[in-house]
Amino acid sequence: MEQDLSRIGVSLPENLLEKFDEIITKRGYSSRSEGIRDAIRGYIRYYDWMREVEGERIGILSLTYDHSQRGLLSSLIDVEHEFTNITRSSVHVHISHDECMEVLILQGDGKEVKGTAERIMSLKGVKNVKLTTIKPGQEI
Ligand code: NI
Repeated sequence: MEQDLSRIGVSLPENLLEKFDEIITKRGYSSRSEGIRDAIRGYIRYYDWMREVEGERIGILSLTYDHSQRGLLSSLIDVEHEFTNITRSSVHVHISHDECMEVLILQGDGKEVKGTAERIMSLKGVKNVKLTTIKPGQEI
């Protein structure tokens, strides 16, 4: 079904746009707009999937961030301390001069596991956030 299109203006860092253009060229998108529409659909699908995370869960939350980003380290530590009750373990890896990776193993109510991920995801300078969860004891 054809829908009315809205035009938006977005400011992006040059390297992010270059990388995006590289991917949509490789994937054969007819235009940048089509690629952006698809990326937004994927973002919404991921959000919908996260909304369904509830009940007892064990989650793996991974993220990378630039530790030189002003204020990020203290915000991140604040969030992590807020959720100590569900944090079972965490690993920190220094990837390069500025880049860090963290992997958190979370266990508890799905809403809290998801809430932790969403809070961390929204911090400026945090990249590549990925949450995977499993229901303990679930038979496949
Ligand atoms: Ni580090």
